[in-house]
Parts: sequence; C-alpha cells; structure tokens
Amino acid sequence: MQIDSSFTFVLFGGTGDLSMRKILPALFEAHRAGGMLADSGKIVAVARHASDRADYIRWVNEHVKSHVSKNGVDETAWASFLARIEFINIDLSKAEDFVQLREVIEGLPGIRVFYLATGPSLFVPICRALASVGLNENARIVLEKPLGYDLKSSNAINDAVGEIFTEEQIYRIDHYLGKEPVQNLLALRFGNALFEPLWRREWVESIQITIAEELGVEARGDFYDNTGALRDMVQNHLLQLLSIVAMEPPHSMDSDSVRDEKLRVLRALKPIDPRDIGKVAVRGQYHSGVIRGNAVPAYATEPGVKPDSSTETFVALKVEIENWRWAGVPFFLRTGKRLADRVAEIVVNFRAVPHSALGASALRAGANRLVIRLQPNETIRLYCLAKQPGEGMNLASVHLDLAFDQFFREGQMEAYQRLLLDVINGRLALFVRRDEQEAAWRWVEPILNEWKASIKPPKPYASGTWGPAASSAMLAQHGTCWLEEEN
Ligand code: BG6
Repeated sequence: MQIDSSFTFVLFGGTGDLSMRKILPALFEAHRAGGMLADSGKIVAVARHASDRADYIRWVNEHVKSHVSKNGVDETAWASFLARIEFINIDLSKAEDFVQLREVIEGLPGIRVFYLATGPSLFVPICRALASVGLNENARIVLEKPLGYDLKSSNAINDAVGEIFTEEQIYRIDHYLGKEPVQNLLALRFGNALFEPLWRREWVESIQITIAEELGVEARGDFYDNTGALRDMVQNHLLQLLSIVAMEPPHSMDSDSVRDEKLRVLRALKPIDPRDIGKVAVRGQYHSGVIRGNAVPAYATEPGVKPDSSTETFVALKVEIENWRWAGVPFFLRTGKRLADRVAEIVVNFRAVPHSALGASALRAGANRLVIRLQPNETIRLYCLAKQPGEGMNLASVHLDLAFDQFFREGQMEAYQRLLLDVINGRLALFVRRDEQEAAWRWVEPILNEWKASIKPPKPYASGTWGPAASSAMLAQHGTCWLEEEN
C-alpha cells in the first residue's frame, strides 16, 4: 500500500495504556514496513505524565518497545520512528493550553488527525477546546470506545462532537472491524457465489458468535465494574460481527454502502421484551477457578471491583432478525472473561438433509456446518459427512480446512495498524457511523435497564469454564448446543 498523504497525528492520552499497547506499536509497524506512512508525517503526543520531549521519548523506549515486535525491534527503524515524535505537555481541562498546541502543529504538514485515547469524559471538552483555537478545520477526530454509557450519554457526546466536526470527520473505532479475519468474512461472503444461496433462513438453522477470553479484568477493575460485558463487548464488537454476518450484499465496498447494510441489520433486530429477558439473556460473573493450571481469583476480589458487585463478566443472548432473510433463525451471541479458552468464532449451522436416503447417520449433528475462526489461528472449516471406509454406508463428520497462515505467510496486519492508516487516508468504511451506534444502544438498552433494576445477581461461574449452565440451557431449549459441547 503506497501512501502519499502527509499527516500530523496528535495523540491525546499519549502515556495511556492504549497508546502504549496499541497505538504507538501500530504506528511503528506502519513506519517500519515502509511506504505506508508519508515520510513527512509527524506524531505529536499530548500527555501530562512527561515533562518534555526527552522525557517522553524515554517513556516510549521503556514502555512501548516491548509491545512492538515479537521478533525484536529493528533499531534503525526504531530510531527513525522516534524522530517523527513531537511532544507537548498541556492540561486538557484548560482551553487556553490549546493555543500552545496550535503553535506546535501550525507549521506541521498534511491532514490533522486528533486521536482521543482518553476517558470519554474528556471527549467533549477536548473537541470544544480544539474548536476554540480553530483546530477543527481540515482535521479528523478519532474516538475510542466506550462512547457513552447508554443511548442518552452516547447521544450527548455525539451531539456535542457533531457541533464541532461533521460526521465525515468523525472516526469511531471498533477495533474488531480492523481485524484481518473480519475483513475476510466480507471476502468469503461477497467474493464467492457458493455461500450466498445458502446464507438464509431456508438453509440455516442457527448461528453462534462467540468472543471468549481467558483474561480477567486485569488492571481495569475500576472501569470494568462500571461497564460490564454488555457495554464492553456486546453493544459494539458482537453486534458489529452480527451485522457483518447477516447483512445484505452491499453495492460496493465504499464506506456508506457497507455501513448502510449493517445499519439495516441493526434496525431489524427484534426488540427485546423486558418480560422475556430471562429467556433470551444470561448474565454471569466469574468466581475463582483454574485456567491453564493457574489458580485465578474471583471477579469480586479483583482490584477496583466492589466486593458486592453485580456487574456481569459473561453474557449469552438469543437474538432474532426481523427480515425475510433471517426471520425465525436464532443467533446466539456469547462473550465472557475468564472462560475456558481464548477464541472468537462464528458457527453457521446449516439444516440437515430433508430426507435421509443414507440412514440415520446422515442426520447426525456435527456436519453441515461452517466454522469461521477469527482468532487465534484464523481458519475456515466446512464440516460435511463422508462415508466411513469399509463395509456398509456409515457416515462420519469430516472437514475441509482453509488455514490462512498457510496460504498467506506474510502481510498480516494488526487491527490498529489498518484502522490508523484508514484514518490518515480518509477511509471511513471500517468506522462506526453514528446511526449504527445509536441502533446498537437502542437494542441493548432494555437489557441494561432490566439488569440494573433486577435484584437477582448475575449467575456465578467458575473461572476456566464456559460460563453459567443457564447459557447451555438456553440453547438446549432450541434443540442445539454450543460448539464445544458437541464433542
Ligand atoms: C476491548 C474490551 O474492546 O476488547 C476488552 O474493552 C477486551 O475488555 C478486548 O479484552 C478484546 O479484544 P481482542 O482483540 O483481544 O479480542
């Protein structure tokens, strides 16, 4: 990818966790690869925890380098990357400090990108301060999640930011949209004629989408305890994946064609009747347990978490889409922390043959299934039935595999790298539009409200398992089970 656009990339929250783990490493990778970032492009870090540029560079050397490359850092590339970095220490709550920022970036070239890797409470003050010194012109603004806490607070942020920047200037990040395998899902669906005729209610019995993590809340107890899995993972990542799985073929890959189709799915989600929440939604919270041989503590004892917390660390949902393609097909979504494995995958269960001329074994479960593994080890696996060798007609489940790392040994790109390059180059397709975000909040809101009002705590589950038993029971009611329960 040869890129000519010059840029000034202003990173608010320059010493934060996200800058350290994701943003600066992604910018470095793009720099190291060569040809992706214009040579004249600059990074201006804004932070209060460093006194001057030398101090900031010391911090970057100490904290960012270890997140950069698994195979060691190319020192020449690292040195030239550091040369791109400028630094400014300003107080984000003081609008007058932004005059200094303007002075620093006034002489720098290209499009201005303001990346807000800060808490959401600073989004509006920063945007207003930028506008007060005229820095909202010829600029793009990147907002990290969480963008709000519910529909009302997200609307308040979007309204205020929308008074300063147009929708075309606003890049709302959902890093799942930048993942290579998620891009591949689009390629699989819309680059092959094979799947399209089958991708509908007549042939699909149910779909599962899982994002499971082994990690707990780590050092983010404070944040997470006020957030929970529904806001942290479902409202954004899982609903975005769902909309890509279920959307109609877009007219083209331009930003609005793709986002219009995703929006149609989000608007067609069957609204949840609060009286049905017990049947279609399960929430859980991890207790202590063992993961890969290591004992891990209960959520309620994690630093920053209230001991009597009723925040959910696990969610399983049954979702329906009210349109001709999907009416009546259950989509089961699930996410959780401290589960048995780290895996993100989509399972499309096709219907069994309508009549089995080959005997009962042709109706067995485990065939007629497409499993799209997003991480780790990106694979697409198609399960079919084949005859077992030998006498008689006994069928067994076999699979056809596509392992991406065997086909494409190079060129994989981390989600943040792709997304940052898209911002610099003005490509909006992989960013969430305001109407999509609103539709997603609107849909989750009855569940949020019901859980908030409920006196029943989340269901406990031992760390290292697949969540509360109620999650499996929900699928059993539909005559199915989660993929891992089949074996
Ligand atoms: C983030 C959530 O958006 O996604 C985290 O805030 C979660 O809680 C993370 O751990 C998962 O992302 P990934 O890319 O590691 O699957």
